[in-house]
Amino acid sequence: MRVLVAGATGVVGHPLVGALRARGHQVSALVREESRARAPEADAVVVADALDHEALSAAVSDVRPEVVVHQMSALRLLRDDPPGAFALTARLRTEGTANLVAAARAAGARRLVAQSIAFAAAPTGDPVLDEDAPLYVDAPDPGWASTVRAVAELESQVLSASPELSGLVLRYGTLYGPGTAYARTGGTAQRVLGGKFPLPEGGAGITSFLHVEDAVGAAVAAVESEAIGAFHITDDEPAPAADWLPHFADALGAPPPRTIPAAMAPRLLGWFMAHQLTTAAGASNARAGTELGWKPLRPSWRHGLGEE
Ligand SMILES: NC(=O)c1ccc[n+]([C@@H]2O[C@H](COP(=O)([O-])OP(=O)(O)OC[C@H]3O[C@@H](n4cnc5c(N)ncnc54)[C@H](OP(=O)(O)O)[C@@H]3O)[C@@H](O)[C@H]2O)c1
Repeated sequence: MRVLVAGATGVVGHPLVGALRARGHQVSALVREESRARAPEADAVVVADALDHEALSAAVSDVRPEVVVHQMSALRLLRDDPPGAFALTARLRTEGTANLVAAARAAGARRLVAQSIAFAAAPTGDPVLDEDAPLYVDAPDPGWASTVRAVAELESQVLSASPELSGLVLRYGTLYGPGTAYARTGGTAQRVLGGKFPLPEGGAGITSFLHVEDAVGAAVAAVESEAIGAFHITDDEPAPAADWLPHFADALGAPPPRTIPAAMAPRLLGWFMAHQLTTAAGASNARAGTELGWKPLRPSWRHGLGEE
């Protein structure tokens, strides 16, 4: 199949181009002008900024993809400029997705696969939720509420693109592995190594992790499948912070995280991370198993988190 990967220089997008080619697909990589030198080896490289409607349409129509994959975010900027990273990522999820849907349609693509997140659900009290759980669009933190609203808009645009352009949303769990925040050189690992990532008392918030290799594998499965809808792409072991954080610190060779009163967590960790460690729900991957035929090759974060 002719496949276009948007976000082809990314943590997931870059290895995805190689994985799709290894399956025999003809893959075009969409990159920005300034990132051209980091483009993966591909059957074609096309250049456009996804926020530039005209340029994106021209680039997509040049390669006439049958399937378009959206792996774009600006989260690489998180370390240096968190508000900027979230604001630009929200624009990519809203305007960028609208531009990509329009470009895919105009180029005659029949399928669109897009990256989303598995940790945007409102905490309802159930420890692990499926894809029908409502999103946390009214989160008390305005920044997270606007992130979740952008996620909801991306999902709705992809899933209602048109009868001719079928949509599938990959709601990735918290990524770990090379290039992620949880890699040894990544932002979260560095905070744990520096003793700056305490465990709020109880540590009851649940995280569903996902190794980058499994994110790539699920995207390949989504490209090759006819399934539509949103799917949690997570490992098989949703874990409370009280389990994974001490394990992560130990695997990194960091000191055990100190325990702090839960009420101090938002100030020390920021609202989102405090929520993640104290109240967030995990995500069940059962639907991806039955409807997409995808299962993680790394079913538990216990074998790998903090090791690379
Ligand atoms: N589920 C999760 O935990 C999750 C989800 C997403 C991201 N993250 C974290 O975020 C980091 C990055 O992951 P990622 O794969 O989403 O992002 P990434 O590695 O930063 O890749 C994003 C891709 O989007 C492209 N892009 C950005 N702005 C663009 C624009 N205006 N037009 C076209 N392309 C554009 C980037 O291109 P350039 O190279 O040109 O910038 C890059 O190819 C990791 O640390 C990961 O842990 C985590």
